[in-house]
Amino acid sequence: MPDLFIILPMAPKLTVEQEFQKLRDELRHHEHLYYVEDAPVLSDAQYDALMNKLKKLEAEHPDLVTADSPSQRVGGKPKDGFVKMPHSRPMLSLDNAYNEDELRAWEQRVRDALPSIEKVRYVCELKLDGLSLALHYGPGAHGAKDGGAHLERGLTRGDGSIGEDVTSNVRTIRSVPLSVSAAKLKAAGLPQSFEVRGEVVLPQVAFAKMNEEREAAGMTPAANPRSAAAGTIRTLEPNIVAQRRLDLYAYFLLQDGETMLPTQSETLEALRKAGFRVNQHVRPVKSIEEVIAFIADAEPLRDTLGYEIDGVVVKVDATSQQKRLGFTGKAPRWAIAYKFAARAGITKLEDVLFQVGRTGKLTPVAALAPVSIGGTTVTRATLHNADEIERLGVRIGDFVSVERGGDVIPKIVEVVEDKTHPRGSKKIVFPKNCPVCASELQRIEGEVDWRCVNNSCPARVREELLHWAARGVMNIEGLGDAMVAQLLGQSVELAGEAEELVTEEGAPVVTRKPLIHTIGDLYRLQRAQLLGLERVGEKTADALLAQIERSKEAGLARVLLGLGIRFVGERTAQLLAAHFGSMEELEKAASQSPDKATEALEAVTEVGPKVAQAIVEFFAVGKNKALVRDLASSGLKMTAEKRVTTSTLEGLTFVLTGTLPNLTRESAKERIESAGGRVSGSVSKKTSYVVAGEEAGSKLDKAASLGVTVLDEAGLIALLEQGPVTT
Ligand code: IVH
Repeated sequence: MPDLFIILPMAPKLTVEQEFQKLRDELRHHEHLYYVEDAPVLSDAQYDALMNKLKKLEAEHPDLVTADSPSQRVGGKPKDGFVKMPHSRPMLSLDNAYNEDELRAWEQRVRDALPSIEKVRYVCELKLDGLSLALHYGPGAHGAKDGGAHLERGLTRGDGSIGEDVTSNVRTIRSVPLSVSAAKLKAAGLPQSFEVRGEVVLPQVAFAKMNEEREAAGMTPAANPRSAAAGTIRTLEPNIVAQRRLDLYAYFLLQDGETMLPTQSETLEALRKAGFRVNQHVRPVKSIEEVIAFIADAEPLRDTLGYEIDGVVVKVDATSQQKRLGFTGKAPRWAIAYKFAARAGITKLEDVLFQVGRTGKLTPVAALAPVSIGGTTVTRATLHNADEIERLGVRIGDFVSVERGGDVIPKIVEVVEDKTHPRGSKKIVFPKNCPVCASELQRIEGEVDWRCVNNSCPARVREELLHWAARGVMNIEGLGDAMVAQLLGQSVELAGEAEELVTEEGAPVVTRKPLIHTIGDLYRLQRAQLLGLERVGEKTADALLAQIERSKEAGLARVLLGLGIRFVGERTAQLLAAHFGSMEELEKAASQSPDKATEALEAVTEVGPKVAQAIVEFFAVGKNKALVRDLASSGLKMTAEKRVTTSTLEGLTFVLTGTLPNLTRESAKERIESAGGRVSGSVSKKTSYVVAGEEAGSKLDKAASLGVTVLDEAGLIALLEQGPVTT
């Protein structure tokens, strides 16, 4: 296929359908060049123009919009959590090797397990530090007559046996083809239905941007790109996922849960031909020496790739050998992950600063003499809390070993003590009072953190406001550091780090009368007041007021997130909103007698005792209740679409076989039926699941031959609890 489509002026003879087809194909082609091949030929503006043309046409002919149109990446929201789905075959993890000896030992085991005359080849791949996904392609919802394969489902790994259906989010990943044309399937030698497995990663640039936004908003930054990617893929708002720029690298191809092609090398090649993104740093090799050479070449790549890797995965190339090698427990014998050592450096701890967060939590931060670790200059490291300082036994002036993983904030691992690195002598004194408002710090029994419990502490109010205004929360543009500081009456110049907000006596620096004291006050701000601030003209004032006004429509989930209730993050807020439908209902549930309240709250998917307790506590505080009431009376939307309840296992047929470890046959049957499922005596193509225990007989073989998913007792319980539908 030529790399450049020539965009001719519209030929007059094209029917609308043909024009649609042509536009979609062109866009798909350019998407592929841009996101898969990293070799765009159109400028962004040209691409956007083409996309706008398609969108315009689609607006005129809504009946001709197809699900796999490039305009349809961001679609409807999953309303109420994700549906659980079993995998076609378990998604396993890998055993690790941490040095050459362990790697050689693995290779020896591989050779011992195979006849000595057989040659063993390996494929070396990078170990991408993300999370694995399973993508299912098939004829599509409407049984696409075009002969192509369409993305039907994307599942997370979950517990390995059962994943979560995150299709709506996977669709927003530009390197995931929404469809593979019949011609490409043919070129790649693929059937119309197949499964691709691969790793989703968040590129470092996207990760840095996301964390910058979070930090600017007073939210805790994600610890590393892997956890950021994992959080993103489970977000209930596909448009947020689309903005985050996840990427998927494909590495497996299955048909009915079995590896299709004779070798891993051919698998990667077929994936590439079908239009998937395959990592370019792959090498088929013939010996362990060559594997070691690949590792030596791969390690320096770490700082140049733009995404995190944490090692190299070595796989036996031949599928027939893989099958004979089989699995041990949770990992295949035919593959191993060689893990790189963490990047570390030694430097001096010059000082310790204390930051006050939104919840009042005091975090000690190490100020380090600048040291270069893996190409980045590090000057700060987290010390987490008082216990951590104690554990490390670290003092100011000590030389410390600092590690930087994929994590944003480097960690101090230990104190280094030798002739060249003498010990320092100044003890780190944890303050007794808040460094910002000077009120006495408290530590709740059983918790490690010290907190400033003054609800009006300027540092806390500042962080609360920044969090409220943040992207992904209430999205109030223009309400950043400098503006918040001014609104609180603090000097703009001092709006930086928390410790700068205090005078030498420990009192907050206030330069003028504050315009606001609470989040609720934001909604009463007047234009004239804003115009009185430094560097605020009419345009800025009007824009900010418009943004504040607009935020009233954000809806219940965002408001809940914005309130900063402990442990209530994006996802929990969404689940709470979907469950209760309104702030009133939530507050009512949380304000009952403690037992009833926790019961009502724990009925929400993923809400456990800790979260329930935090919500109860939040609504028990008068100031919080007043804020909620204040916001409601300012006209903030405090409702969300409520979920529809359905039976979890409705429409599913189960066959029980063998002895389960805990449940009797009768109780298993009862539980399945009370969840809406059916239990049948014999396995057929219509069977959804076979639940197998000890000494399961021929039913298990039958299930295997028909490709019916087999669950053990734990799998059944998970399904009963979470259901394939989490309502
Ligand atoms: S193969 C059974 N290939 O590492 C085979 N995994 O520690 C397992 N990973 O769960 C997957 N890069 O999420 C494979 N090139 C690669 C990989 C890779 C990263 C992840 C994957 C897996 C984990 C196992």
